Amino acid sequence: MSEHKLETRIIKPVKSLRGEIFVPGDKSISHRSIMLGSLAEGTTRVSGFLMGEDNLSTWKAFESMGIDIRQTGQTELEIDGKGLDGLSEPGNVLDCGNSGTTMRLMSGLLAGQSFFSVLTGDQYLRRRPMKRVFTPLNAMGARIWGRDGGERAPLAIQGTDLRPTTYASPVASAQVKSAILLAGLSVEGQTTVTEPHLSRDHSERMLAYFGAEVRPFTGGVSLVGRPHLAAQEVLIPGDISSAAFFMVAGLVTPGAELLIRNVGINPTRSGIIDILTAMGGQIELLDLREQSGEPVADVLVRYSRLKGIEIGGDVVPRAIDEFPVVSVAAALAEGTTIIRDAEELRVKETDRIAAMVSELGKLGAQVEARRDGMVIKGVEQLKGGKVSSCGDHRIAMSLAVAALSADGPVSIEDTACTETSFPNFWQILEGAGEG
Ligand code: S3P
Repeated sequence: MSEHKLETRIIKPVKSLRGEIFVPGDKSISHRSIMLGSLAEGTTRVSGFLMGEDNLSTWKAFESMGIDIRQTGQTELEIDGKGLDGLSEPGNVLDCGNSGTTMRLMSGLLAGQSFFSVLTGDQYLRRRPMKRVFTPLNAMGARIWGRDGGERAPLAIQGTDLRPTTYASPVASAQVKSAILLAGLSVEGQTTVTEPHLSRDHSERMLAYFGAEVRPFTGGVSLVGRPHLAAQEVLIPGDISSAAFFMVAGLVTPGAELLIRNVGINPTRSGIIDILTAMGGQIELLDLREQSGEPVADVLVRYSRLKGIEIGGDVVPRAIDEFPVVSVAAALAEGTTIIRDAEELRVKETDRIAAMVSELGKLGAQVEARRDGMVIKGVEQLKGGKVSSCGDHRIAMSLAVAALSADGPVSIEDTACTETSFPNFWQILEGAGEG
């Protein structure tokens, strides 16, 4: 399923963009709703679930471990949780598809179970680094094996009794942090993770929402193991990482005005709003509210003359999935944008620095790669041409945004990967385009 057929789309420039849109549910929160719903006692009801391929991989994995998950509406699920010790040994390899979140979070969760499991994924996921979760989990006593000394999937996990740990993560990664916290659920005592900058905190928020004792502090978080997790109603907001494509599209397309409804604006995710506002983008947050422990708002964007800025430090993990589309905004801004401290982009679904430098370059953008980021000199207009998604959903959608104001059609090869996180992206884009 995750090895897609080659599909090419041609995006024509638009006169403008207008309207009101809803983007699908948050991918990170959707994964966690299945995981915690399965580990809680009773039936968890989820709405706003993202029916994208990554989340379906998590869904199938929990079904293979004996959890009953039912779709009750377009974005609604019911999960019959069986408690912390209710999972059973899967009869087959668990296929995480393209989803790093499924593989890394599940390795933490599976390390403390009483059974054996094997995790694999598609050609992209099997290339991504896994030692970042393997090392701290080993320190908790986990028994995990993988190719290249544990660096690459497939991973084989013999569940065992773990011990609590205090781990200073060298990377700001929610996947690493969450893997350790999920492993910590299975042991009595306190598990603590610190990180160089705060990464997305959806796991901590949802663990607390389900009743676990979570103690955040400056620079880290602790979790008290063996909690009683009780089933909940989880309302998932729209994914800010999906909204980001339309934020940039709205800002760079002359005359555009877009209202993006019901977007999660968790401060550990809202770096894109800070970056685009610093570039001179007109973005307004309307009707701020809270939903299942997460802040939500409607986001109004209007065409703006953007200018180049320097981006680095704390904001980087807060916008980590948005750099492909930030590079599009920068390519069309006045002046130079410098992106630093973003070496993590090299180990995403693809090397996103190399991908954006090569593909945006084909459309006439002036982008140079740095070890830990990019230097982008803005141009007046991009050119039409032929590009590739490099098999990465966020590269595909960023190139589509770049195409909207190019001087001719842009043909994007390998676009089916958008199913990973944003199945109706092309329909929404078409609906918002004028002319
Ligand atoms: C995610 C964490 C981030 C992000 C990914 C989703 C999560 O990865 O890039 O798309 O749901 O925890 P890292 O933890 O590797 O930064």
